[in-house]
This record gives sequence, structure tokens and C-alpha cells, in this order.
Amino acid sequence: MGRRVLVTGGAGFIGSHTCLVLLEQGHEIVVLDNFDNSSPEALRRVQELAGSTQLTLVEGDVRDPKAVDQAFRTAGTVDGVIHFAGLKAVGESVANPLHYWDVNVNGSRVLAAAMDRHDCRTLVFSSTATVYGEPQTFPLREDMPMAPIHPYAQTKVAVEQILGALCRAGSWQVACLRYFNPVGAHPSGQIGEDPMGTPNNLFPFITQVAAGRRERLRIFGQDYATPDGTGIRDYLHVMDLAEAHGVALDRLFQRQNADPLTLNIGTGRGLSVLEVVHGFEQATGLTIPYELVERRAGDVPRLEACPQSAQTMLGWSARRTLEEMCRDGWAWQQANPTGYRNNS
Ligand code: NAD
Ligand code: UFG
Repeated sequence: MGRRVLVTGGAGFIGSHTCLVLLEQGHEIVVLDNFDNSSPEALRRVQELAGSTQLTLVEGDVRDPKAVDQAFRTAGTVDGVIHFAGLKAVGESVANPLHYWDVNVNGSRVLAAAMDRHDCRTLVFSSTATVYGEPQTFPLREDMPMAPIHPYAQTKVAVEQILGALCRAGSWQVACLRYFNPVGAHPSGQIGEDPMGTPNNLFPFITQVAAGRRERLRIFGQDYATPDGTGIRDYLHVMDLAEAHGVALDRLFQRQNADPLTLNIGTGRGLSVLEVVHGFEQATGLTIPYELVERRAGDVPRLEACPQSAQTMLGWSARRTLEEMCRDGWAWQQANPTGYRNNS
């Protein structure tokens, strides 16, 4: 059944793919985004791909109660909210923790207060695998302790705690989705990840090396206690992650439990950096030059989800392969060498 959904940060990497899935599910969407790390062009392409005009944009900051109220008024009635708007760079959070607490925590507080005012208490929140800190046992289950080791993860833990308290206070339906490492792009190559400047993350760096924009990949660390010495992460296709939001929201609409639905969203299969590089080479037939360098500060050796709860509670599991992640990410890079900029 079509619902009205407010999507904060809907123009971003995960948000844009999720908006497409929601439109295809028949929902009407209002996006609130200040384009701090995205472009309106992403939303234009989402509508084009969906063949739908059921998306309205409100340009504004989630920390601004007037902007959030305007988004609610624009929608008329909002049935549920998906809250992506936030900051995600670990290093930047160490350098500027107050900014991270302001955008991620204060932004979520302002949003939750507005939801309460507008009588909408159904929320899917973007949390992260980094809430587990530097864990020692795998795979990671949701009942394992949260032990954040940098301000970025601390802000996500704080928001999970606020949302838990709201659920205990009554009448909220909340899902905290702890994403592992989303990569790739929509198979059309029309929407994808568009990092500003030098990419922090492995996948966009690899695709830019493949495109000749960067000379070689630097692999951070070769002496981790992993089979080939490089870091292990649980990479999942961004379309699988987008679909998980659609399913989680539907689940919340049917649910009456008081506790938040806290779920790992990953494949359950960790891959080393070298495995990803070789997987990309196989999927594309290209060679990725690389050098092994020092570890990157703040990196943990391994993160790998137990995806069982998401399967049980949502009936969702990641189904796309590494080959599809590489192929689709590469198609996006080739079709959009400079992302959404100068390219529309
Ligand atoms: P992104 O930067 O591509 O998208 C975030 C969107 O929020 C952007 O469109 C940005 O312009 C918008 N935004 C930022 N601050 C805002 C503000 N104050 N008001 C309104 N809009 C604002 O990032 P993403 O990768 O799509 O991540 C989405 C969410 O998922 C974030 O909350 C992030 O912390 C979380 N997350 C991401 C990853 C990942 O690997 N990408 C992993 C775990 C969690
Ligand atoms: N890596 C390299 N070279 C690079 C970039 C990354 O070797 O140029 C390595 C990292 O050391 C790590 C792996 O590739 O071992 C993955 O690194 P990413 O930067 O792609 O991803 P992270 O796991 O560090 O962090 C990402 C997001 C966070 C999110 C987290 C959830 O950036 O916002 O996943 O697991 F919280």
C-alpha cells in the first residue's frame, strides 16, 4: 500500500537508491536535504528511473525545526520517516567532534521532536557497524556490546539510545539498521556514490584508479591478523541495502512491539581488501595497480555481520554478488567520470 514517507538525506548515496526503491514500491516521498554532500541531480535521475513524479524536495537542514516542519507540511500527512541525513567520515569526526554531535545527534533530536509534533512516530534510522568498535568475536550479533572508538560511532550510539528511550516511553516504532559496507550502484549506472575530492572509501577509490583518475590504490595495512594481512569488511550492494529500508519500513507499519528493531545489514561474508581488488579485476577485466602501505589510523582489522536477525525479522537477506557490486560500481564510474558535477 502506498504511504507518504519523509526521507532526510534522500539525495545522498544510500538515500537516492532507497528513494528509487520506495517510488517503485508505490510510496510518495518528500526529501529533506541540504545538499551538504550531494546534488539535486541525483533526485532528478531517481524520478526518471522510477518513471514517477511522486517525489517532492524540501531543501533545508535537519537541525532547523522550521525546515523539518515545512517538510511535514509539504507532505500533508507523513506515515513514516527514513533518516539518512548525517555525516559519516571517521577522520573528520575525530578532528571536529562537535560538528558530528551537532549534525548527527542534534539533527536526530530535532527530527524526532518534529515527528512527535506531527504525530508520526515511525522511523528507520541509519546506524553503522562501527558501533561495535574493535570486536574480537565474529560474526557480529546485535546483542553484542556497543563499544564505539571514535566520535562518528559515538554519535550513532547516542542516537540509538535516544530512540530506545523514545520507544520505552511509548508509541514509537523504530528500526535502527546497522549498515556494514555498502558499495556499488544502481545497475543502470545513472545513480551512484559521488564522493567530493579524494575518496575515503575503498570502492570509489578503486573505480577512480580503474578510470585512470588516480595512479594506484594504497592498501592500508598488510599485517592484520587476517589470512592475507589486509583488513576484512562485509561489503554489500547498495541496492540490497536500499531494499532493506523498504522492507523495514513496511515491517514497522505492521508492528506493535515497544522495543526498537535493531538489525545488522550485511551479507555475513567478510572480504579482505585484496579479495575485493582481485574481485574487481575479475569482474571488469581491468588491472588495479596498488601498493601496500601503513595501516590507516582508526581502522579495525575485521567487521563481519551475522545477518540472521534481519532474515528472521524482515525476511531480508543480501542477494547480490561481489561481481555485481564491482560491475555496477564500474558502470556508474564510466558513465559519470566526475559524478553528478558538470555532467547533468
Ligand atoms: P551521504 O553523505 O551520501 O548522504 C547523506 C545525505 O544527507 C546527503 O545527501 C547530505 O547532503 C545530507 N545531509 C547531511 N547533513 C545534512 C543536514 N544537516 N540536513 C539535511 N541533510 C543533510 O552518505 P550515505 O553514505 O548515503 O549515508 C547515509 C547515512 O548512512 C548517514 O547517516 C551515514 O552516517 C550512514 N551510514 C553510512 C555508511 C556508508 O558506508 N556509506 C555506513 C554506515 C552508516
Ligand atoms: N582501504 C584501503 N585503501 C583505501 C581505502 C580503504 O586499503 O584507499 C581499506 C581500509 O583500510 C579498510 C577497507 O579498505 O580495511 C574498507 O575501508 P572503507 O574506508 O571503505 O570503509 P570503513 O570500513 O573504514 O568505513 C565504512 C564507512 C563508515 C561506516 C563503516 C561501517 O566509511 O562510515 O564503513 O562498517 F561506518
